[in-house]
Amino acid sequence: MLFFSCALFITLAVGVHITPYFPSISAFLSASEVIIPTPAILYHDSCLLLLHRVVYKDVRECDVDSNFDDTESVCKRSWDWIKNECEFQKLKRSDASDLLNGSWVVVAGDSQSRLMAVSLLELIMGSEGVERIKGDLFKRHSDYSVMVEEIGMRLDFVWAPYVANLTQLTLRYKGSKDFPDILMMGAGLWDMLHVNNATEFGVSLRVLRDNVLALLPVSSSLDAGGGGVSEPKASHLLHLFWVGMPTLITSMLNTAEKKERMTTAMYTSYDNELAGSNLLRQSGGPLLKLDIGLLSEFCGPRCTSDGMHYDEVAYNTALQIMLNALLIESNQKP
Ligand SMILES: *[C@@H]1O[C@H](CO)[C@@H](O)[C@H](O)[C@H]1NC(C)=O
Ligand SMILES: *[C@@H]1O[C@H](CO)[C@@H](O)[C@H](O)[C@H]1NC(C)=O
Ligand SMILES: *[C@@H]1O[C@H](CO)[C@@H](O)[C@H](O)[C@H]1NC(C)=O
Repeated sequence: MLFFSCALFITLAVGVHITPYFPSISAFLSASEVIIPTPAILYHDSCLLLLHRVVYKDVRECDVDSNFDDTESVCKRSWDWIKNECEFQKLKRSDASDLLNGSWVVVAGDSQSRLMAVSLLELIMGSEGVERIKGDLFKRHSDYSVMVEEIGMRLDFVWAPYVANLTQLTLRYKGSKDFPDILMMGAGLWDMLHVNNATEFGVSLRVLRDNVLALLPVSSSLDAGGGGVSEPKASHLLHLFWVGMPTLITSMLNTAEKKERMTTAMYTSYDNELAGSNLLRQSGGPLLKLDIGLLSEFCGPRCTSDGMHYDEVAYNTALQIMLNALLIESNQKP
């Protein structure tokens, strides 16, 4: 049973009252009592457009051991927003805990999504906390669910390597009428490796899009009791994100089959299908893309050892982008 805490309830309630910021929606709303998802309009918040303007630089993590001055001492990369007009903030553990208190987060997809889940848990539980559960979380090709008791946050990782698996998941939520607060999902790499047909990938994306749209708008069964907000039918704003494919560095891929099939040309075709599927906000769809492709490209070859899975800094960036997008959407800039 999931109960919303005050903090998240406010997030959602404020999220519903986002209209003053988007005059173009108000006209729409007065005509109808239903809150219609207007992601294309919401996307025009210029700050959402700037979320991915980040830069990576080297950190001499080993500086503390004073005397090391060789290149080996450049131990990791750090990141920041380039020109931070929107005052984005890297949320710390306590901020993220407040924001996600009482919420149900689902991350579905392949290993890229799993790395997003790890990144989120590390922020919320600290690396020691994650160390304890890593064995279960990293069991290959399996689902994982954890309840972070301190803040009543449930996180489900759903192993869903193909778009069809994501569609099944949305059908499951539709059927059960029980929805997460935040749904992050993504797929593509498995399809590229095992199916290798961009056209079919595009078809599956359009099916997913139709099914996601069928989930919206979601009327929640919540009443306002306890939250102190007197909204008779609080609409449950489902926050949807797409976990993009990473930049693939073909020469670094670790099998001959991957090198043969996961080429730059094929990647581009897959990416074009994604853009053409109207699944993403960028093209009027329901999901905000967390552009792992862009972030991993910015981070560069030094951030990956297999040309596909990047260092945690790339996923940490994507996570902070996601959290800042949540703040923008719920009009709660820190
Ligand atoms: C989470 O919300 C509950 C209920 O509102 C509150 O008691 C608790 O202190 C919150 N925890 C954190 C870590 O914010
Ligand atoms: C994912 O979808 C594929 C293709 O439809 C199917 O064969 C596979 O069993 C599904 N896997 C999971 C975990 O649902
Ligand atoms: C990709 O799939 C489509 C539709 O199923 C099919 O018509 C086309 O021939 C396939 N392309 C390749 C290269 O196999």
